[in-house]
Amino acid sequence: MKIAAGADHAGFRLKDELVRLLRQDGHEVEDFGTSSPASIDYPDVARAVAEAVASRRAERGLLVCGTGIGMAMTANKIAGVRAATCNDLYTARMAREHNDANVLALGERVIGPGVAAEAARLFLSTPFAGGRHQRRVEKINALD
Ligand code: RB5
Repeated sequence: MKIAAGADHAGFRLKDELVRLLRQDGHEVEDFGTSSPASIDYPDVARAVAEAVASRRAERGLLVCGTGIGMAMTANKIAGVRAATCNDLYTARMAREHNDANVLALGERVIGPGVAAEAARLFLSTPFAGGRHQRRVEKINALD
């Protein structure tokens, strides 16, 4: 799968680790940075990753900041993006099954690398359930 990944200074360590892991799993990951502790503004990275997903240059996006909140708030401003902050395995699965989320936002200050890796893998491997959820996702999309 083609994945666009990005982080700010509060999330780059986890992002770098997940990029390494997902490439090892066979995914093609485009890394939008940052890879340094120098302070940056998360909306700049979230926008770049969200635009890569919206333009279909990437099938999924992965964003990491301190909490996963600011990244998701920003990414959801881009039409075609459904970003979800999922700092546990249940929400990572449900964001795919019920919401057809295409961007996963994680908080490096919230979860450890083990749960984050499993959440990312779950997010990438879980299909959208469709059915009654299709109509609801269409209603979200209609707001774009
Ligand atoms: C940076 O300090 C922090 O605000 C950012 O990483 C993120 O958690 C915002 O939602």
